[in-house]
Formats: sequence, structure tokens, C-alpha cells
Amino acid sequence: MAAAALLLASLSGVDAFWRMDCHSPLGIARIDPLVNYGEIAAHSHIIFGGDNFSPTAGYDDLIASESTSCRAKEDKSAYWTPSFHFKHSDGTIEVVGNQGGMLAYYFLRDGGTGKEIKAFPAGFKMIAGDTNKRNYTGPVPTPPQSTWGPDLLTQASLAERALGFNCLDYANPIPEGSLTRHFLPDKSFLDANCKDGIRLELAFPACWNEAAGVAPKGYKSHVAYPDLVQDGVCPDGFSTRLPGLFYETIWRTQDFVGKDGEFVISNGDPTGYGYHGDFISGWEVETLQSAVDTCTNLNGELESCPVFTLQTQPEMAAVKLTMPGDLKNENCAGPESALPGNVAIQSGPQPATENHAGAAAPTYAASSYAAPSYAVSSKPVVSTPAVSAKLPAYSKPSYAGSFSIQDIHAAGVASTSSIATSEASSTSAAVYVAVTPAPSAPVESDGGSIIGTTTYTSDGAVWEVAIKEIDITVTAEPTGAARRRRHLAQHRHVGDRHGL
Ligand SMILES: *[C@@H]1O[C@H](CO)[C@@H](O)[C@H](O)[C@H]1NC(C)=O
Repeated sequence: MAAAALLLASLSGVDAFWRMDCHSPLGIARIDPLVNYGEIAAHSHIIFGGDNFSPTAGYDDLIASESTSCRAKEDKSAYWTPSFHFKHSDGTIEVVGNQGGMLAYYFLRDGGTGKEIKAFPAGFKMIAGDTNKRNYTGPVPTPPQSTWGPDLLTQASLAERALGFNCLDYANPIPEGSLTRHFLPDKSFLDANCKDGIRLELAFPACWNEAAGVAPKGYKSHVAYPDLVQDGVCPDGFSTRLPGLFYETIWRTQDFVGKDGEFVISNGDPTGYGYHGDFISGWEVETLQSAVDTCTNLNGELESCPVFTLQTQPEMAAVKLTMPGDLKNENCAGPESALPGNVAIQSGPQPATENHAGAAAPTYAASSYAAPSYAVSSKPVVSTPAVSAKLPAYSKPSYAGSFSIQDIHAAGVASTSSIATSEASSTSAAVYVAVTPAPSAPVESDGGSIIGTTTYTSDGAVWEVAIKEIDITVTAEPTGAARRRRHLAQHRHVGDRHGL
């Protein structure tokens, strides 16, 4: 059948990925060697990776790290984002607990171009997001990718959609897909709906202009988003494909249910539009290239890649920053009377005024600077769960019916499946495939591109699933006409649990 041929045509293995589990923060501190080199940073960050991180850290420093708080010992990269805080109604501010550290996904996608994916070169640094941004210009909800016109394809617009605020409720059979909400929901929404907290998500640009170098001033101008944010075609001048980095950090907003106040990012942003993240590669280039070339498993598991030497959670948890002297006594966790660095809370819509780079650290009593950290359980998977399927709550409720996708089964996605689709794909932000019953063996290979991740609960375990976009032939359209469309398929990965 046509669909089977299409699926086979896309079985190129180029959308493999791995999920770097950076289980424990190195620390939470006002350190940012990209934005505030050599000084006390404007706002506080939660930092992961090589232990040689510092206000002046660069590639050579990171490579010289003795250890890393990420799972693969070879990965001494530095990953950091602003920390996440709660402002009580009496004005005191404390950090929100981080759950399970950070996941740094490495998506290996070529946008169907067949181009080689190149390891981050030595000295590569980049920033995604804009700390001063306080508004959103795109339509809500985001229309389906296939309908994005010029307005939605500018780099500024793609960057807006590279941020995600995922409401976690592991009991909800209709989990949100990643990168579907591009703002921080308010506290009453979080209290009512997100009983397992909020997952902050950030996709980095994966297209590189080699001529601009590895780390130009500002750390942004050398990279660009492909035209589907996490996949698609690179813009002119940015023709080198890099691994698509994607950060996920879970914050325990549920610990503040019933308390009066608001959540705010450490850069003084209560809207989420100014969320951002930083990356300095700390990989030996050959090692990373070897992983990119050979770790083409589609299940994301680090165990599947022989390039990596894996360490345990206690080993990762033991890796901490050496705090610079002038920050030793700063208590970013609070509770304190202001955000670390006394950053002003500014809700826009006009851009935030500059933060207070270099503001001296107050001399708090020496105390722990680390946010409370909660272990991810290593509960064994008890059985194969079925994936419920429905349109996600944020999309237009135009659910139209179920269609057979036996052709997808032929490509190895599922044993028996049905697809829920909307009346017209132009009104639907996402479509999930129902897999009932779920396949009994891990799905190793199929077509399509992974465009995000989400979680769901079954049998007491939290599962992380990748959302894939695949080409299918709909054989039972309401109109009766068989038409090929792009749909989103939800595809489970055995054993990928996160945040339980
Ligand atoms: C929205 O944000 C952009 C980028 O920060 C800014 O240039 C623009 O002025 C803002 N719009 C409004 C209405 O403030």
C-alpha cells in the first residue's frame, strides 16, 4: 500500500535520539559564564554537567572536569536554566523543589534531508530563549505545523514555540504533549490541574552557520531553528545540522497548593515568555560524533549506546559545584525577601529592563544553596500499559472518529491501533494515536520524526512517550476520500519513566 511504502521510505533512522539524564543539579547559583562572564550573574540558575563549571568556564575547563552530574561520564557539558521560585503573598520567595534533575535530549534529526549530523565542535556555546521577553505574538493554540505560513516561520516566531510549560498530572490519561503551551500557567490553574508539577521545556536551535564560528558574541547568531522548531529544514546560511538539544526540568509546584502567591522564574519573569537556557559543550568531539553516528536506537535509552559509560544516581548526586567565594554564602533557595540578586519581577508585555548583573551577594548565614531534590524511583515496569487516546484538552474539540491504521502496524508501530483525528487537521494542534492493546515488545523501528515527548501513567508507573509525526493514509475519512495527511502519533517507549 502507498502508506506502507511511505513509512518504509522514512525508515532512515535519522530521528534517533538519546536522553541524557542529568540527575542532580551541581547547584543553584548566580553563575552564568555566557551572559555574565567572570562576574556574579544577574539571576540564579540550576546547573548540571561537568563539575568544573564556574563563572569563567569554557570548553577546556569543562573537559578538565573530574566528574559530571549527568549519567554518561563522557558528557562534561554544562547545561543551565533559570531556577524556579514561589513568591508568597507576604513577599518572601523560595525556590520550588526540582524533581529528578534535568533531562537533556539529543535528537538526531535531519529534516528528511539526508544530511549528516555533526557533533558539537570544540568550544561550541549557545543560548536559547530571551530573558527579557515578556509577551507572545503567535496564535494560541498553535496551528498544526503543516499550515505554518511565513509569520510563523520567522526565527523569532519559531523561538517562541521552542518553550514549553507542561502541566503534569500522571493520572491524566490525556497527557499534554511537549511544547504545546508556551507560557507559564497561573497558580490557580497549576493548583487545579497539575498535581505532579510543571515541566519546563526548551528546544535549542539545531542549524548552525559554521562561518559564524562556535561561540560568537551573544551566543545566538550562529544558530537557527529548522522550520518545524525541532525538525524540518534549516534556513539558508545555517546548513550544518547539529544534534537537537531539548531540556526538560520538572518543578514541584504541587508543594505550594493552597498557598497564596505566584510562581516566578529567577529572572523575574512570571509569564514564562522569558524562559531560556544555556549550553557549553563539554564533549570530546570524536566521542560525541561516534555517539551521533552509532547511537541510532529510537528508544532514547543511554543503555543502548556503547559509547557511554554510565554512572548511578548516587554517583551523579555526589557531584557538586565548587562555589566561588563571593557566592558561598548566598542562599538562592531562600526563603528570602527577594529573588536571588534582588531581581525585579516584571510581567510585561514590554521587554523586561536589564537585570542586575553583578549585584553583590548579600551575606546570608551560610546554608545550603541547593534546592531540595527528590529522587526518581527506579520502580520496575510491571506490565505493558495501553495508551489512551484523545485530543489534548487545549485543541479544538472536533474529534471525528477512529480510523484503522493497519499500515502503521505493518511498519511496526503497534499491534492493533486506531487513530483519533480531528475534523480538519487545520483546526487541531495535535492528534494522538490510540494503541489498544499496546504492543507487547519494545518498538524498535518505525518511520516518522519525534516532535516531542509527553508522559502518562499506567500500572502505577509514569511513562515517558515520544510523540511522533508520521505519514499515514486515512482510509476511512468522514468524507470517504482516502487522503494522506500528516498526523501525530503517540508512540510508547518501554521503560522510559520520568519523575515518579
Ligand atoms: C513584545 O516583546 C518584544 C520582544 O521583547 C518587544 O520588542 C515588543 O515591544 C513587545 N510588545 C509590547 C506590546 O510590549
